[in-house]
Amino acid sequence: MTHQDELKQLVGKAAVQFVEDGMTVGLGTGTTVKFMVDALGQRVNQEHLSIVGVPTSDRTREQANSLGIPTKGVDEVDHIDLTIDGADEINNTFQGIKGGGAAHLWEKIVAINSDKNMWIVDSSKMVDELGAFPLPLEVIPYGSQQLLKRLEAKGYQPEFRMKDNQRVTTDSNNYVIDLHLGQIVDPHKLALELDQMTGIVEHGLFLDMVNTVIVGRENGPEIIHA
Ligand code: A5P
Repeated sequence: MTHQDELKQLVGKAAVQFVEDGMTVGLGTGTTVKFMVDALGQRVNQEHLSIVGVPTSDRTREQANSLGIPTKGVDEVDHIDLTIDGADEINNTFQGIKGGGAAHLWEKIVAINSDKNMWIVDSSKMVDELGAFPLPLEVIPYGSQQLLKRLEAKGYQPEFRMKDNQRVTTDSNNYVIDLHLGQIVDPHKLALELDQMTGIVEHGLFLDMVNTVIVGRENGPEIIHA
């Protein structure tokens, strides 16, 4: 396991200590969350916790079910007590970029329907300013080439996300366009602009959304209340 993976495992284990018997728990997506779901599966089996997971991707649902964590869809639950998710970048006012794993649409839907949101990251994700990480957009395939041109004209250096020479598709069968912005001076202004562009289903700016961040540091997990 790499050192970065060790830090991810550390925060995953720390996060599941916040899960209580009877809770409905939103389960994020990504390599850090994978460690968290492993740790949660262990608690469920050892302590016979009765919880329900609300996964933010097909892959998280498959992992949770394989570990014996029961899951429901977001529309099948009354409410979600706590969602634990990863992030690609978090700035010092706790605004974040997510979507590096192409799951930010479902992640945002689960996040806004959760009483509390917790992000778990290794220390490399904590930044002064957002934007070095390319900002993901989930876009409707119809007209997406035209949308790309509109984003290009704005100077946002958009690129379809590709894998094996094919456009990446999300769990909702949409495409992902990454914006290479370098720096995002005003995340709220950019979020508003992207919210208003036809064809963009959701962008990866998660603003004013997180309650707790757990950062994996050399000397242990740091728990920050945002
Ligand atoms: C999934 O689309 C993302 O929002 C992830 O939560 C984010 O990319 C963090 O992923 P890692 O834990 O794999 O870095």
